[in-house]
Amino acid sequence: MKMTKEQKYRLLEQAEPGELERLAAQAESCGWRQRYHIQPHMGLLNDPNGFAFYDGKYHLFYQWFPLGTDHGMKYWYHVTSSDLAHWTDLGIGLTPGGPYDSHGAYSGSGIVKDGKLHLMYTGNVRDENWVRHPYQCLAITDGHAIATKLEQPVIGSVPPGYTDHFRDPKVWQDSDSYRCVIGAQRDDLTGTAVLYRSKDLLDWTFEGELQTSLSSFGYMWECPDYFELGDQGVLLFCPQGIEPQGERFRNIYQSGYMLGKPLESDRQTFEHGEFAELDRGFDFYAPQTTQGPDGERVLVGWMGLPDLDYPTDDKGWAHCLTLPRELSLRNGKLIQRPAAGLIGLRGEQITFSAELNGESRSFAGVEGAAYELQVSVSPAASDCKQGMFGIEFRTGENERTVLSYDASSGKVTLDRSQSGASLSPGYGTTRSCTLSSESGDRPIEFRLFVDTSSAEIFVNGGEETFTARLFPDSASTGISFFANGGSAAFEGSFWSLRENA
Ligand code: FRU
Repeated sequence: MKMTKEQKYRLLEQAEPGELERLAAQAESCGWRQRYHIQPHMGLLNDPNGFAFYDGKYHLFYQWFPLGTDHGMKYWYHVTSSDLAHWTDLGIGLTPGGPYDSHGAYSGSGIVKDGKLHLMYTGNVRDENWVRHPYQCLAITDGHAIATKLEQPVIGSVPPGYTDHFRDPKVWQDSDSYRCVIGAQRDDLTGTAVLYRSKDLLDWTFEGELQTSLSSFGYMWECPDYFELGDQGVLLFCPQGIEPQGERFRNIYQSGYMLGKPLESDRQTFEHGEFAELDRGFDFYAPQTTQGPDGERVLVGWMGLPDLDYPTDDKGWAHCLTLPRELSLRNGKLIQRPAAGLIGLRGEQITFSAELNGESRSFAGVEGAAYELQVSVSPAASDCKQGMFGIEFRTGENERTVLSYDASSGKVTLDRSQSGASLSPGYGTTRSCTLSSESGDRPIEFRLFVDTSSAEIFVNGGEETFTARLFPDSASTGISFFANGGSAAFEGSFWSLRENA
């Protein structure tokens, strides 16, 4: 049941007696609660925010509406981790409801300055005519208590030429100052991003629009992020309003990146290559990155999308974050690998191998609802260009999720048409991508992280990823491997994964 505006824009203290307990109990009893992904105790989670390495730990926040699964009054919820696998729950990190964030503390980022974690975010305000007023605000925390907000916004108005869709500041440190990129919509209703500069995070100067070659690429860019990796500048953003093109752009909104020459500190021009999707799956949006203690670049995304219904909506909770992924570059592509610390969740290892030819096979002990599965599939030399090889998982009497590799086309497909409770069927039930030709005759490597209601699949060491929510029956725990129309050697390892607490 959808909430009214009045119900959605309530603060926690405006909850009715017993409402929170009811929601929490409902969520807790849901059979689709995840085991090792970050998820809300109740209500709705969306974008990761304020991701930063501070005081010896990763601090991560997420957009949270506690009182239901609609997008309502957003708080920031705070968790920390030293290994990116086990997380400590710190509760609310940032509270909305002030004059400049009366209708939500929207997305933003974190940066360490003067020994304190500074959170820059968009304060969402709706006036009596329900007109939106975005303010860019700053809050400061020692990493333990709820962040203290500055009384005034640090950017109090939208520059001329842009609409009130102006949000999601991502801050980074440049040589002698700070810069931030903000997602925006031009007056002509096309999406873009703008740049600001500051010496102290308090006084910000508008530098101008980030100059890209995309003059008309969707109607809004949400959640931009800029960083440098190796000798490349990387711009992540989430354009809304892009039409599907073949295998690409099949989701309601897109999330991707462009590589280019690093931004020069006194310029706004970003010379870049093509926009590429970050993830090939169904449920991935609004990722944010930070730099770890050893210079590594780590990304976390929202495993969900705006404006879609999900099967847990009437169970008092919605969505989770993706696993943290470490980024690198290979052959002009962003590569994503699960954070190394995740091996800390593993139980005992089970290994298996088989030659399959026109058949399907399972292995004792290789089954479950929350596990890591690594498989390398080597088609026989004679079958390099023919046959369908793959994995069926979360299989039950009437359910299966199918991951396949078509050797004739080099195409990898994730099919959730029979995965269980259906979600957004209007956007299709399969996602595919064609592997780069360098994959050639190498074995195909699949690394799956399956949780109670999701799968994150890393192909060929993170060259491609597929992220998807899945809502199968709890009894659908089977896994089988198949080779149709050709033969292949399968070799793999399986680990049950423990909780992330
Ligand atoms: C992206 C987004 C952001 C906004 C936030 C509100 O999912 O719409 O643009 O700041 O969510 O929760």
